[in-house]
Parts: sequence; C-alpha cells; structure tokens
Amino acid sequence: MCGIVGYVGPGSTLDVLLGGLKRLEYRGYDSAGISVIDPEAGLQTRKRAGKLNVLVEDLSASPIKDAHIGIGHTRWATHGAPTDGNAHPHLGGAHQKLSLIHNGIIENFSELKAELLAQGTKFSSQTDSEVAAHLVAREFEETGDLTAAFRRVVNRLHGAFTLLCIHEDQPDLILAARRNSPLVIGLGDGENFLGSDVAAFVEHTKRAVSVGQDQIVELRRDSVLVTDFAGHPVEFEEFTVDWDASSASKGGWPSFMAKEIADQPQAVGDTLMGRIDSEGNVRLSEFEGLDQLADVTRIIITACGTAAYAGEVAKYAIEKWAKLPVSVELAHELRYRDPVLDSNTLVIAISQSGETMDTLMATRYAKERGSKVLSICNTQGATLARESDATIYTHAGPEVAVASTKAFTAQITAGLLVALALASLRQSLPKSELNELGLELLKLPRQVKQVLESLPRMRELGREYSQAKSVLFLGRNVGYPIAMEGALKLKELAYIHAEGFAAGELKHGPIALIESGQPVIVIVPSPKGPDSLHPKVVSNIQEIKARGAKVIAIAVEGDQEVSQYADEVFYTPDAHPFTVAVLAVIPLQTFALELASAKGLDVDQPRNLAKSVTVE
Ligand code: F6R
Repeated sequence: MCGIVGYVGPGSTLDVLLGGLKRLEYRGYDSAGISVIDPEAGLQTRKRAGKLNVLVEDLSASPIKDAHIGIGHTRWATHGAPTDGNAHPHLGGAHQKLSLIHNGIIENFSELKAELLAQGTKFSSQTDSEVAAHLVAREFEETGDLTAAFRRVVNRLHGAFTLLCIHEDQPDLILAARRNSPLVIGLGDGENFLGSDVAAFVEHTKRAVSVGQDQIVELRRDSVLVTDFAGHPVEFEEFTVDWDASSASKGGWPSFMAKEIADQPQAVGDTLMGRIDSEGNVRLSEFEGLDQLADVTRIIITACGTAAYAGEVAKYAIEKWAKLPVSVELAHELRYRDPVLDSNTLVIAISQSGETMDTLMATRYAKERGSKVLSICNTQGATLARESDATIYTHAGPEVAVASTKAFTAQITAGLLVALALASLRQSLPKSELNELGLELLKLPRQVKQVLESLPRMRELGREYSQAKSVLFLGRNVGYPIAMEGALKLKELAYIHAEGFAAGELKHGPIALIESGQPVIVIVPSPKGPDSLHPKVVSNIQEIKARGAKVIAIAVEGDQEVSQYADEVFYTPDAHPFTVAVLAVIPLQTFALELASAKGLDVDQPRNLAKSVTVE
C-alpha cells in the first residue's frame, strides 16, 4: 500500500520519480506527488488527487525545474480522503523546507499532533503522516542535524512506517526509515535509489538491498549508510534482481491482467524449474533451512485472500500425499485467536508480495511460539522471506495487476512441490508413485498453454454475462477453493455479487439463491478413478438446473456426461485432480477479466484496492 520512490544522482530526477511511480502505481492510486530540490529553485513540490496521470498532466501543463534529488509517492488512503491536500509529500518547518512521504500508519499520531498543535503548528492535511514532517522539521530547527532529528522522531513513532525525507538545506541527502513496512535500496553508479519494491528502480539498476526492520538509511550519490534506530551502522547484503523492466510492462497487451494470465505457462514452468528431475524426483533444497522437519506433526498454512485459496489446494495435497494434518488459517484470524502453536508445528506462509502485514504478524507470532516458518513468496528481498526459516520462491515474475493471477497458479504449483517433497521425506508414498506425481507436475506448463489456447468461448461468455447481477461458483475438493477464487476475481474486478460454495453445501442453504437465469459456474472433477466425486457434482448440476440455473461447467476433456446437463462446457486437459486446480482457474480469471472489461472497468486497478496490503 502506497508506493514510494527516491532518487539522488546526476540523471533526471523527474524521469526517475515519475517512471518509478508508474511502476508502483499498483500499490495505491488515490493520489500522487513528488518533491525535488533544485539548488536555485529550492524545494519544489507538486501533488494531486487521482491517478498518476493527473499529476503527470499537471506537471506538463505547468512544469517544475528538474533536479538531482527527489522523492515521490503514490497513495492508498488510510487517514484522510484522497484530496490534493492529503496527498504526499507533506511539508514541515516554518519555511516549509522539509518534504516527507510515508507508507503505513502512525498509530500514535493523535497524541503527537496534539503536542504540535499546542506549540502552534498549522496542519494542512488530515493525514497521520504530516505529524512526522513537522516533528522532523522542528527537531532540525532546534539541533541543526537532520539525521539526528530524523532518528529522534522515528524512535517516537508507533505503528508501521516507511518514511523518506529531504530538506532544502541538505540538498545531497535522502533519509529513509523502515518499521513494519517495505523499503529497498537500489545501488547505482554515482547514483542511488529507494523504493517500496524493486519495481521502483529496476529499469536503472538490478543491484538491490533489502532494508531490515527498524533501520535508517542515509542515501547520497556516492554513499549508502544503514544504521539501526540507535544510530549504530549495520551491515547490509546486496542481491541481484532476477527480472528486468520489460517483464513489468504490458508488452502490447490491453491490460497487465491479460498479460499476466498469458504469462502463466512461464510462471508455472519457472516455479518448477530445477526442482523436479527427469525421473520425477522432487528436490527442494530450501528444506535444508528447516531443521527437525521430520519431527513436524502438523502444518498450519496461513495467508490472505487469493494466497489463502492456494493454501487450501496445498492442504488437500499435503494431507493426501504426506499424510500430515493441515489447517488453513486466514492470517488475521490466526494471529488474534490464541492458537495452539509449538515447535512441532510447521507454519507455511504464502504471500505474493511478502509484505502483507496480516501474514507477517501471524508468522512473527508463530515464530515467537517456537514454530518453524516456511514461506512461499514471489518477491525477492521481501520481509516475509527475510523473517522465515526457509523460503520457496515462486518465480512468477512481477505481478502488476492488482488482482492476482499468475502468482496464484505459481503458489499452487509451489504448494504441490512442498506436498511431494514432504511425502518423499516422510516416505509416505512409494517412490514409484512419487515419481509418477513428479512427472505429472512437469506436464503443467504445457497443459496451461493448452488451456490458454482454448479461451475464446470463455471470453464471449464473459461479455454475454456483462449485465449479470450475481454469479455463483461451485466446486468440491480442490474445486472448492478454485470456486472461491473465481468468485473473488469477479467481486474485485466487476463489483458484482459473487460467491463460491462447496458443492456439497448447496442443499444446506445456498440452493435457495437459485432462481431462473442465475448463472452458476461449476468446477467438475474428472469422472476417472474409484474415488471420483464426478457423480456427486453432476447431481448438484441437475439440482440447480431443475431450478432454472444457467450452468457453465469447467470439466476435463472426455467428460461427455456433463454436457448433457450444463448449458456450456469448457474443457481443460484431463490431468491429475490436484493439478487440474491450476488449469480450472484460468477460464475463471478470463471470465472475470472479460466481464469487467465489457462493463468498461479498469481491470488493473479496481476501486478501493491496492496490491500490497501493508497495514493490518
Ligand atoms: C486478490 C488478491 C489478494 C491477495 C492478498 C494477499 O486478487 O490479490 O487477495 O492475494 O491480498 O496478498 P499477498 O499474496 O501479497 O500476501
């Protein structure tokens, strides 16, 4: 939530800041602003409510002088409506020479504001962030040392914050601080960058440093100093960003979401790469970071939203293959319900961004209780990865559209890998069966490609249903979380009522919702195998058809029976029942994308949402 960028160097600061904000806009798009310091013109600030375009147009209509140091912000409002005044940066000091941007929530802002008001400080916004600007400016006026002033103020703040601050009297320095909110440094040659994530600067440098919890950065053209909040220098480790700027651009697609749906064969393939050999043996070297894994007696998977649905699919696989009890807990519920956690519990945290505050709080809590944490994460250098005992990276590449697609299928893929690796470790399945399953997983990228090639009718259906007021989704077993994911995509993108149900639950209440013409999308399992749930799901279809529902079935190739009852059938390749989860969600993503596009909605930046939810 909120995108932050900073630059100091000989290049065009306006280009770096606006380019960085464009790439970070998925983190929030209520308003945007920048400040730069020009030696002659001094501190210049421009900020506007609305999407980044509004600011860009404003700057081209009435330009400011380019400079060699500056900070920029794109906002997702928490305190105060999205207005020009509440947009960042916020200015501080009697002569408004200090500029500050903030991501997070300053929990004790009311008490700090009262203190400043009592001293006669005038506020020009309703934000919690402005207090930090005034406090740093006041301390600097008193002490004349900007770094010491900044350090003193961050030590007084409670809550979550990434702060960046510049001052006209120190035109070579950007100060930054981080607590419970992301911050990454980009190391250049004679220039340096700061960002909420590497997308802010990846077109300029791939050398990055993830700033640790409670650390302060002093950034100049030729130097980077990182200290703790007490001012003691700390060592930092550099990493190389493994994707380039072009992977975070639309590349000719009408939307990032359309591109990211199409990226899925690669996202899934890259997540599998090097983890299964040609005989089907799964090797997760990441498990080496988890000692006493063999002693684990149960698993809790924790995540939020789409990532939690990926966790639900992983649960079915881990229980079936590795024979370990698994529960899936929404992170915000797990953290605050006094759960029983111990050293024999393995917590698996799933997060695309690795910065979701709810997930971070749950994993920190689990670690305090002695549990080991394995994370499944898509973002290098993310806080979750830093704080986990081991991390399995999904290599889906940058996901820019707010609604998750390729990260989800990569998360399921990683979950299936974990299930097989655990089964191998625990010898809970014969080796021949494990190898067969490993080889099944290797087929996924090609099967995903096949699904993508057969989507035209699904696109038409999305457009045909653009006036629908409600769409229901049904599934059993791994089809159930896929049904919930299909419903979530539709809610997020098209702003209509959508709900996913376990098909077996239908008769326990939800069937009352069915009336003539109600669209229902049903995930139908393969009819093969003695334990197939196919007959039960087909009965469910008959029950809702009898009450007038319009049924779109997502079934596996060769299932002729379902076509007798459903109005439309979309066929996926007939894969293993668990890998079908990856295949079946793609038509649902496409349905939501087309329906929302037909309604003229912005599918990349749906209303009220932000990509990375860094506040609780
Ligand atoms: C929905 C969506 C969200 C995220 C959730 C967790 O399309 O993207 O539900 O899945 O906010 O985000 P991460 O995975 O970054 O922790």
